[in-house]
Amino acid sequence: MSTAPSARPHRLGIRASGNVLGQPEARWNSHFLRACRGEPTTRTPIWLMRQAGRYMQHYRGIRAGSSFLDLCKNPDQAAEVTVYARDWLGVDAAIIFSDILIALEALGLPLEFTAGDGPRLAPLDGPAGVAALRDPLQAAADLGYVHEAIRRTVAALPPDIPCIGFCGAPFTLAAYAIEGGSSRQFARTRAFMYREPAAWHRLLERLVATLAPYLNQQVAAGAACLQIFDSWVGTLTRADFSEFVQPHLTHLISQIVDGVPVILFGTGTGHLLDLLAACGADVIGLDAAVDLDVAWRSLGGPQRISIQGNLDPAMLLAPTERLTAAAHAVLTAAAGRPGHIFNLGHGVFKETDPEQARRLVEVVHGG
Ligand code: CP3
Repeated sequence: MSTAPSARPHRLGIRASGNVLGQPEARWNSHFLRACRGEPTTRTPIWLMRQAGRYMQHYRGIRAGSSFLDLCKNPDQAAEVTVYARDWLGVDAAIIFSDILIALEALGLPLEFTAGDGPRLAPLDGPAGVAALRDPLQAAADLGYVHEAIRRTVAALPPDIPCIGFCGAPFTLAAYAIEGGSSRQFARTRAFMYREPAAWHRLLERLVATLAPYLNQQVAAGAACLQIFDSWVGTLTRADFSEFVQPHLTHLISQIVDGVPVILFGTGTGHLLDLLAACGADVIGLDAAVDLDVAWRSLGGPQRISIQGNLDPAMLLAPTERLTAAAHAVLTAAAGRPGHIFNLGHGVFKETDPEQARRLVEVVHGG
């Protein structure tokens, strides 16, 4: 496995290779996909992480009749939630309604979502737990309900609106598996990494062997872009990232089919940006803690990589004037460079007034 390529040998080819998947013209030339490829657009595209969720009454209505996981596994309902949120907000892309943790369930770790407590998994038990994980190809095949939801979503979306597929990144998924749920310090994860490095690498290889076919099947079902959520990778030092994570992320991204941009998102990653960019993604997603202009300069110039972000999601709780000013500040930091995709720095809070989210979309669209 190669470790740290300095440029993006695989993904750079994508921009040159063009529409190899034969996507409809309107979608291929959409504002969103053009920005992902670093091409100029006549307006800045925007979508919001967690754009479909509890802050929306429509979602709460559908969710009232079933559990979150049942909703994820029902392709008709998952597609309906996805398409409704996209249409209501008027955003430039839809993200398939699903969750990163279902891949761990498919690998054999029982998963439940408890009200208030967030996700609970049966924690992965050391090297023996890694050996006991299910076969990666079987796990990817068991996630077919996501692919079916994508098919139905793409059929229902306007022709110029791409559907984004996604997965959790190897580090973030390993952390949920080892901790058995959410964590602040990732103490069990870090201990596992340092004390059982061979088992750690086997675990991340197993995750990559699941996620690569899972993502490519999402593309086959119609996803025109993929986002990899490495939500908690920013808790690592540069040295630990290079040793324990970078080879696996690079290997995952290198296996994605040509013609599909890859967005790599994490929070608290200001100190890792060059290392993340070297993993081969086309777009880096930033949280609100970094200055977008400074981050972009450090990534080596506007043509090299696209940037997604990075309005603080708490701004959606502010009065409209403050929200509008903050949105303009992000646009000013992006300075009209080709390759900017407007987004929040992290997901929409459930306390958000949906009308404020819709107003933000209008502001970014210049309305
Ligand atoms: O963005 C979207 O609109 C698509 C749907 C989506 C969800 N989760 C729906 C969801 C996406 C892309 C995710 C990704 C996800 N899931 C991440 C990475 C992004 C991030 O926030 O950093 C993570 C870490 C998870 C794991 C997860 N799922 C947690 C920690 C929780 C509990 C916390 C919470 O907000 O409730 C979930 C549940 C979850 N995922 C909900 C939704 C709409 C709420 C479930 C409910 O209806 O009760």
